[in-house]
Amino acid sequence: MASIELRNIRKVFGSTIVLPDISFTVREDEFVVLVGPSGCGKSTILRTIAGLETPTSGEVWIGGKNITEVHPRDRDVAMVFQSYALYPHLSVYDNMAFGLRMRKFAESEIDKRVREAAAFFQLDELLQRKPKQLSGGQRQRVALGRAVVRNPSTFLFDEPLSNLDAKLRAHTRTEIARLHKRLKTSMVYVTHDQIEAMTMGERIVVLKDGEIQQIDTPLNVYRKPANRFVAGFIGSPAMNFIPGTREGGSLRTDFCKFELLAATQSAAKSSITLGLRPEQILLGPAQNGHVGFNLLVDVVEPMGNELLVYGRAGTQSLVVRCDPKAAIAIDQTVPMHFDPQAVHYFDGENEKALPIS
Ligand SMILES: Nc1ncnc2c1ncn2[C@@H]1O[C@H](COP(=O)(O)OP(=O)(O)OP(=O)(O)O)[C@@H](O)[C@H]1O
Ligand SMILES: [Mg+2]
Repeated sequence: MASIELRNIRKVFGSTIVLPDISFTVREDEFVVLVGPSGCGKSTILRTIAGLETPTSGEVWIGGKNITEVHPRDRDVAMVFQSYALYPHLSVYDNMAFGLRMRKFAESEIDKRVREAAAFFQLDELLQRKPKQLSGGQRQRVALGRAVVRNPSTFLFDEPLSNLDAKLRAHTRTEIARLHKRLKTSMVYVTHDQIEAMTMGERIVVLKDGEIQQIDTPLNVYRKPANRFVAGFIGSPAMNFIPGTREGGSLRTDFCKFELLAATQSAAKSSITLGLRPEQILLGPAQNGHVGFNLLVDVVEPMGNELLVYGRAGTQSLVVRCDPKAAIAIDQTVPMHFDPQAVHYFDGENEKALPIS
């Protein structure tokens, strides 16, 4: 078990600054997810921890030691990639044993570890097959098994599930969660799938353009996004953003006007973006200080467990998450409302979240 610490990591490729200045710590038993859009620097961070990339400046510490200059082979780190990179001519068994043989482990120890990992990932029956005789999900489990047999202090995963179909993804996601529960080592998991981020991470690091936007538990990131980017990136369907203007103590948008809370008022400038999660818009007439408006419905998506209703309020497009039994039809105008004390406000210029209390 070992903690991971990135201290002011800067990475420049040619004239491109990929990571301006990244610092964060992963506790020795923690599962941290790095999430962000394509090209934001997730793989570069992981590769820097593994030693496959040298930082332009800054330090990587693992288990209390500065390992910035240590060769990747001598870091106690195993990395699992999106492409499984198995040796095609070797059996499943030999693929898993390969790294240990390189490190001159005794065959008896190798055999013990390979069989243990094979049992954990349900590969027992497949040990003599070649990779091309396996399904994508089975190959990915071999890649996971190969990382596990090394018994490293730290695991790094770079989108290991993105080649799998939805069902296998969900299954393997649970397997990795179980693996973490069993091994209790530090794990850093990269994804741009926000469901993986929400369900797997003890903490999430949300990145944009090589900069950390927020580090927090999944629920805090969802409930208290630090800025508009985080608010829009985490959550599906995404939060509705409504441009607004401050008029004295009120906020005016295209379809509503209401009194701002004192805390929001005191921090706000003239331009404010209102943020409404699809489930924060409620069906029915306003009551108890809620703000009401009418939605002209244009699309209805019955999802089974919920009903997604798309429509317009004034010129503003909105999506609303409703009870699956709600009777809502296309071209209907339905009353909706929201609680102004429970929703989100962002500075219209710098996009930071404004306080509500
Ligand atoms: N060897 C390199 N030379 C030049 N630019 C690079 C190199 N490696 C990565 N980059 C650039 O650095 C940025 C970050 O790349 P990185 O692979 O870390 O992104 P990512 O967040 O993992 O994206 P994805 O989700 O698509 O995998 C990208 O703009 C990429 O083009
Ligand atoms: Mg990547």
